[in-house]
Amino acid sequence: MSINFEESLVEIQKKFFEIYDECGKTFWKGCGSYLFNGQSYDYYDGMKEKQKLLFDLSKKHKSVLEIGTYMGHSSLIMLAANPTLKIVTIDIDPTYSTRSINYLSKNYPVADVKLLLGNSHEIIPTLSEKFDFFHIDGNHENSHVEKEIELCMKLSSSEIVTILFDDVGCCWPSIWHIQKNYRIVELIVPNCEWQNALVVFKK
Ligand SMILES: C[S@@+](CC[C@H](N)C(=O)[O-])C[C@H]1O[C@@H](n2cnc3c(N)ncnc32)[C@H](O)[C@@H]1O
Repeated sequence: MSINFEESLVEIQKKFFEIYDECGKTFWKGCGSYLFNGQSYDYYDGMKEKQKLLFDLSKKHKSVLEIGTYMGHSSLIMLAANPTLKIVTIDIDPTYSTRSINYLSKNYPVADVKLLLGNSHEIIPTLSEKFDFFHIDGNHENSHVEKEIELCMKLSSSEIVTILFDDVGCCWPSIWHIQKNYRIVELIVPNCEWQNALVVFKK
């Protein structure tokens, strides 16, 4: 039975508040996620289209490498879409990522969710397993993201590389970098606030 995004929103919103409890009802003021705007801890439906893009992508794949865990909200969307997904998620800061990933591991026992703490540039070169897609949502400086792209490409399970970039408003130059050096086969940018962008390209 295929899982539907709209129907999953009830589960996602319930777990979104449970994660808040796990995190001692705190968050970094000004730092948002796929599910809230970083000002108040309320589900934000102005980002529904990008939530759906992440959800639908997760349904189609078996494994993902994510950069930027924060409170585990994007991981939650991926697991609600695909409760058997293998997720390796990297964050430089343990404050919220540790508690939220512990919560998600307990709540999705069939999935394989692993948190790696450290700078993406140092962690990714230590990995040898391959991934079906990548979610880049850590440090949004373009020089940083461009290096992440090159590192992720080496871990792609296919010659066709699938990367979802969050907050694409900050990282268009990184996408032009892909456009200049590789052949883009698909580019999707949903119509919503704080857009993400799905870029599929040939190595
Ligand atoms: C916008 S938040 C991620 C939000 C999350 N993907 C979500 O929507 O639920 C960005 C996260 O990236 C982490 N980060 C920043 N620079 C990083 C780096 N160089 N390596 C790994 N993580 C990094 C931050 O600690 C922060 O938790």
